[in-house]
Amino acid sequence: MCCYNHWEWRIFEGSAVADKRVYLETMGCQMNVLDSELVLGQLCALGYEPTDDVGQADLVLLNTCSVRQHAEEKVYSRLGEIGQVRRRKPDMLVGVIGCMAERDPDGIRQRAPHVQILCGPGNLNELPGLIREVRETGEPAVALEHDHSRKLPKYARTLEFDSIESLDLSRTLVPGGSVLQSYVRVQRGCDKFCSYCVVPFTRGPERSRPPANILTETRRLADLGAREITLLGQTVNSYSYSENGSIVRLSELLARVNDVAGIQRIRFVTSFPGDFTDDIFYAMRDLPKVCEYLHIPAQSGSNAVLQRMKRQYTVDQYVELIDRARAIVPDISLAGDFIVGFSGETDQEHADTLNLVERVRYKSLFIFKYSQRPGTAAERRLPDEVPDEVKSRRHAELSAVQQRISLEHHRAMIGRSVEVLVEGYSKAAMKAQLADQNLAPHIPWRRPDQLIGRTRGDEIVVFSGPASLIGQFVNVRVTDATALTLHGEPITDPVLPLVSPTSV
Ligand code: 5AD
Ligand code: SF4
Repeated sequence: MCCYNHWEWRIFEGSAVADKRVYLETMGCQMNVLDSELVLGQLCALGYEPTDDVGQADLVLLNTCSVRQHAEEKVYSRLGEIGQVRRRKPDMLVGVIGCMAERDPDGIRQRAPHVQILCGPGNLNELPGLIREVRETGEPAVALEHDHSRKLPKYARTLEFDSIESLDLSRTLVPGGSVLQSYVRVQRGCDKFCSYCVVPFTRGPERSRPPANILTETRRLADLGAREITLLGQTVNSYSYSENGSIVRLSELLARVNDVAGIQRIRFVTSFPGDFTDDIFYAMRDLPKVCEYLHIPAQSGSNAVLQRMKRQYTVDQYVELIDRARAIVPDISLAGDFIVGFSGETDQEHADTLNLVERVRYKSLFIFKYSQRPGTAAERRLPDEVPDEVKSRRHAELSAVQQRISLEHHRAMIGRSVEVLVEGYSKAAMKAQLADQNLAPHIPWRRPDQLIGRTRGDEIVVFSGPASLIGQFVNVRVTDATALTLHGEPITDPVLPLVSPTSV
């Protein structure tokens, strides 16, 4: 393995014989998906080989989510199963990383005493040091942002990955991993403190990363074949970095990423409605690579609920923002998040949410039943008294409204030509193929011809085509639609790249 160098982009070549295997399971949001990719790359660079089989692993890591109670329960149930495997393999190291480690280390220690590593999302660069420490001392090792009393793990800050920023910057590719669509973090943490949310407690205060580092990462990903970059931040539109006496905001960052040769699509998630300024809409309109897609959670359509949630905007302000978005970027495709059954939510307040959804006409929605989280303002001050059946009913009602709108949104696209970045085989087609294979194993395996990809507006498109189209941009005419998917047929050869991927 080569020596570590901050500015060197390392690819694990798999040449060293890996004597250690790591199993890493990821729950939760895109930020966790990115963290897992970085952690796995970091471990591969240190000689680990990823495995999908817990039974084969020397190191088992769960990258966890604390946003809802259900997600945490799932982690405990997985830890129970992993504990069974560990009985047969006592040398196996088990670690909990991510938000749940940061939020509730004592709970994990009590309920899962076989966990020997706890590492919060702000300390993931310390993970190699923690692993080494447990191996050498046999004692549990812990790195959390809010644990000021802890003594630093012996190796934590002396090893290769010496700051959390270097974890992103020294991104190492995992063997077999695809960079076609890559996440790049632009911001850590969140300062909004919505009353229901644990994220400001688990991921700490909002910090924007230096534009130069973001661009270095993006250029390297482009060199390696990335075509779509999604800039990640909890409130990405409030990105702000002071550079040479002036402030770089998200619109300027988008302009700089737009100049990176090889990249053909840029997205950014998630936006906070309260901070949104029109320069970002103009960037979407004027920068050719920035996709006409906006994920902008409203959370509720009632002013009273928004106030209890401490969301810092009103329904009217949200609707005005959406109207401005559509005026400046006419083809914009919108996605949102809503929480149903928040503390005190009445039938009328729920009806207000249904009205907002009818008014905005999102392409798609993520809908969540309110889950009270320890340590949040809502937990301290507001009862979680809406019965679970009511939450479920409201969830079903909102989903039904959105299903109809999604279907109408998709049907309106029938006959149009859309640009699709082809991601791979359609899962449904793969499943059908496997079912056929099970029914008739004598028939030789043939690759399914149903490909799946996404439009610039993030609509999912399924169409027939050869495997050679995977990773390419293809123009597809939409012929049919469901609430979830567009179906179509390719109408041209792959779309030529805007710029040569090699002309960096
Ligand atoms: N209960 C339910 N949903 C929540 N979310 C955040 N906190 C909670 C909670 N306590 C949802 C919000 C957010 C998404 C990532 O998760 O809708 O936008
Ligand atoms: Fe949580 Fe609100 Fe921050 Fe989003 S903006 S991460 S909901 S506190």
